[in-house]
This record gives sequence, structure tokens and C-alpha cells, in this order.
Amino acid sequence: MQAYSRIYGSGFVTGERKVSNADMAKVCDTSDEWIRERSGIQERFFVNEGTATSDLAVGAAKKALDDAGVKAEEIDYIVVATMTPDYYFPGVGSLVQAKLGLTSIPALDIRQQCSGFVYGLQVADALIRAGQAKKLLFIGAEIHTGFMPFSKQGWDVVMGRSDAEIPQSEKEWNSKFRHLVVLFGDAAGAVVMGPTDDPKRGLLGFALHSEGKNVEALYVPSAGFAYRPYFSDEHFKEGRGVPVMDGRTVFKMAVTKMPEAVHEVCAKAGTTVDDLHLLIPHQANLRISEGVQKALKLPDEKVYNNIQRFGNTTAATIPIAYDECKKAGRIKQGDLVCFVGLGAGFHWGAALMRE
Ligand code: ACO
Repeated sequence: MQAYSRIYGSGFVTGERKVSNADMAKVCDTSDEWIRERSGIQERFFVNEGTATSDLAVGAAKKALDDAGVKAEEIDYIVVATMTPDYYFPGVGSLVQAKLGLTSIPALDIRQQCSGFVYGLQVADALIRAGQAKKLLFIGAEIHTGFMPFSKQGWDVVMGRSDAEIPQSEKEWNSKFRHLVVLFGDAAGAVVMGPTDDPKRGLLGFALHSEGKNVEALYVPSAGFAYRPYFSDEHFKEGRGVPVMDGRTVFKMAVTKMPEAVHEVCAKAGTTVDDLHLLIPHQANLRISEGVQKALKLPDEKVYNNIQRFGNTTAATIPIAYDECKKAGRIKQGDLVCFVGLGAGFHWGAALMRE
């Protein structure tokens, strides 16, 4: 059995269109000031219609393969974390496999939403340590725009194809979801992982948790097989395909559970928060990251945030942030890096890695 797994390379892509807070204010009752103040977000990227989660996943995968110096045909396992697959089923893993021109290697989807990346890292690490994968492609990819309840005209306005005023009734409808739609963006981040013989490098441990009792604080009520049929016109008219989010409950959970998980994973690895070179929190809201940072008493230079430029991209936030930090020289070999996230489920957890 291999002692450790490590990340060989990383990369990311975003949706094609950069969308500002002012663009969002054209389709719902919001403002740049409100969004910046409550979430830190200044802009996000949305895909053009026709781009699917698997397309973003493949784009990020190609960049990560390039960065790792690994050919697609060398990949022997694909893991994709997404809550926004192209289809209800199958998952995105097999679509990525086909779009990369690969055949028959195992492809696995996991759906742990905003903690998809930390959960997926544990799966990838276990597969590699057990000798089941030697060059594993792990992707976090999301397209949230499918959730957004805008009409065709609304989309033309948001995407800059039209200057028309949308009807007041439509703006009112969209505004029912304004606390949600302003937060999200479309993107994918990928890593190529494999074994290392160096016992001082790689993933050192995990602290993962779930708690299903508050599921209704953050979930998509429909489509789902709790209903027959699993999706209907009524569901659509009621907006039940749009996530329900009790933002305050999520916020409170995040600023409590994320710091706990960081302490836990450090203790398991026989180290402390003070030894961390960098914390990469899931980018849900800048205020959440600041709350986590405060609870952990970490200085600014030890916590990375980029939600200002991408919004919340769910399973993609951590690999995007990791890639930016690597390319900017903020993570160097030997650095102790902690990833932490919390999201729908609720699922949360932290992963500790020596670069
Ligand atoms: N623009 C303008 N006003 C708004 C907007 C908006 N986009 N959204 C809400 N408001 C208004 C509300 O209507 C409310 O008005 P009222 O006081 O007149 O009733 C006021 O602003 C405050 O609303 P709250 O929802 O209480 O605002 P809050 O300060 O809690 O911020 C937010 C909302 C940003 C959603 C925050 O709660 C948050 O970030 N929560 C966590 C979000 C998160 O992390 N989600 C998880 C990711 S999703 C996943 O895991 C899949």
C-alpha cells in the first residue's frame, strides 16, 4: 500500500460570460452595494446556453492534465464532485470520460455540494493509497444558472444581449430568489492526483461530518423521487426547482463547524492551526470566510479568498483557489495547506495536505 497521495497538477475554467452585480440588478431587486456588503461578491461567470457541466469539467481537466504533465490516456480513475449534473442521471464522470476520448476506466460521481471537494479528496486519497488508482482525475464542476428562474428575455438582459427593461411582474418573481441567485457562478476546477513515496508530502488526514436533520435549510425541493411524478408543471410554476436556502442557518453552521473541522484535522495529524501556511475555505460568502478566519485567529496572509471574482461555485471553489495559489507562488513545496467546506446535506469537513 502507498503511504500517501498528492496533487500532481491543477487547472480551472469558468463560464464564458462575466456578469457584474449591476447586471444582476437588471433582473431582480438588488444592488451592487447589497451584494458586496453581504457576500463580498463583485462578479461571477455564467455559461452560455448549451455549455454543460461536463464541458466545464473537461475544460478544467485538460488544464490540470497539462499542468501535471500527464496525458489523458494515462488517467486510470475519474471522480467528479457536482450537484448540477448534465442530466438527472447518469452522473458527469462517464460523460467526462467520453469527452476526453477515454474508455472503460472507472468514473465516479459524488454529491456533497459545497463540501464535495473535501469529501472527494478523501475518496481519491483512499483509492490511491489502496493501489486502486495511480493517476486519478478529480474535478469539482458546477453550472448554477440552470437553477435561476429567469425568462428568455431575462437571460438576454443578464448576458448582455439586450438592453430591454424586463416586466415588473417578472422582476418581482425573480426577486423572490434574490438572496440566492446573486451568490452563485458557473465554473470547474480539477486536480490530477497520484501516489508519492515521500512520507512528508501529500494528504495527511481528514475530518468529515454530516448531519441530515436540517436538510430543509438548504435543498432543492424538486425534482425528486419523493414525488410522483418526480417533476411537474406545478413544481415548475411554484419555483420548486430553485434551491431553498435559509441563509442565516447556513451562515451560523458554517462559522461554527468549519473552524471545528480545521482544529480536528490538525489535531489528528499531530499539528496545530498555528502551523498552517494557508487555509483555503470553500467560497460561500466572504463574511463566512472572515468568521472562520476570526475563530481560528489566523492572519490575512494565511487565508485565501477569491469569491469577489467568481461567486460561489460550490464544488469548484476549492480547486480554483488552490490552482490560483499554486500559480501565484502562495503555496510552495513543504507548505501545510488546509481545505475546509460546509454545504447542503449538511455535510462539512476539512482536509490537511503537505504540498
Ligand atoms: N439584494 C437586496 N436585498 C436582499 C437580497 C439581495 N440580493 N437578498 C435578500 N435581501 C434582503 C432581504 O429581503 C431582507 O430584507 P428585509 O430585512 O426587508 O426582510 C434583508 O435583505 C436581509 O436578508 P437576509 O436573508 O436576512 O440577509 P443576510 O444578511 O442573512 O444575508 C445571505 C443573506 C448573503 C444569503 C447570507 O445569509 C449568507 O451568505 N448565508 C450563507 C449562504 C451560503 O453559504 N450558502 C451555502 C452555499 S449553497 C450550497 O451549499 C449548495
